[in-house]
Amino acid sequence: MNSYKESHDLLDICKLAPVIPVLVVDDTASAVPLAKALIGGGLRVLEITLRTKNALDVIKEMVANTTEGIIGAGTLLSEEDVYAAKNAGASFGVSPGITDQILRACAEVKLPLLPGAATPSEVMNLLARGYSVQKFFPAESNGGIAALKSILGPIPGVSFCPTGGVTSTNALDYLSLKNVPCVGGSWVAPQNKIKNADWQAITELARQAYSLNEHFNT
Ligand code: 3PG
Repeated sequence: MNSYKESHDLLDICKLAPVIPVLVVDDTASAVPLAKALIGGGLRVLEITLRTKNALDVIKEMVANTTEGIIGAGTLLSEEDVYAAKNAGASFGVSPGITDQILRACAEVKLPLLPGAATPSEVMNLLARGYSVQKFFPAESNGGIAALKSILGPIPGVSFCPTGGVTSTNALDYLSLKNVPCVGGSWVAPQNKIKNADWQAITELARQAYSLNEHFNT
């Protein structure tokens, strides 16, 4: 798969829901109820960060037990992470930045990648390699909405999923930008609610996040 194709796949994925939950999960028993809670609220695209010991098992559980979920692996830092994510059944990968190794490994195993960029040079470098859908990370500490507006002028051909500091308070402002089809964030699945198995509360947060769509479909 070339990167142009991957980028288009990513755009389709990004358009499925306005928010991609960024999940840090270690307890495999939480995997399926958490995924179902989020999907029940309308958020079908989930990013499971490879930041916990059991993250790959969490991905496997979600992939095996949810039919509507599009399960991705986040925090890809190396080729090994890419191979492990693919083997676990991830449908896409997310990386906070890029390396040649990660891009090569994703192309090799045909894992669509949402690659991270934070500066115009990084955005241009990725665009030159065919990645027209990128993760703007860390969004808030890199200028947030103002930075994305400034990038839109000279580099209009890139769509961004801003992540890092995006919350229920500022998500709508991000989504109102022409170059932002979706945002990513952890606020829809807070650690304490996962720990307390408060799936109803997580579904409600997901529902509220999904309803951000209403502002664009009227
Ligand atoms: C991350 O990779 O941690 C994401 O950017 C999530 O950031 P957030 O916790 O600020 O939503």
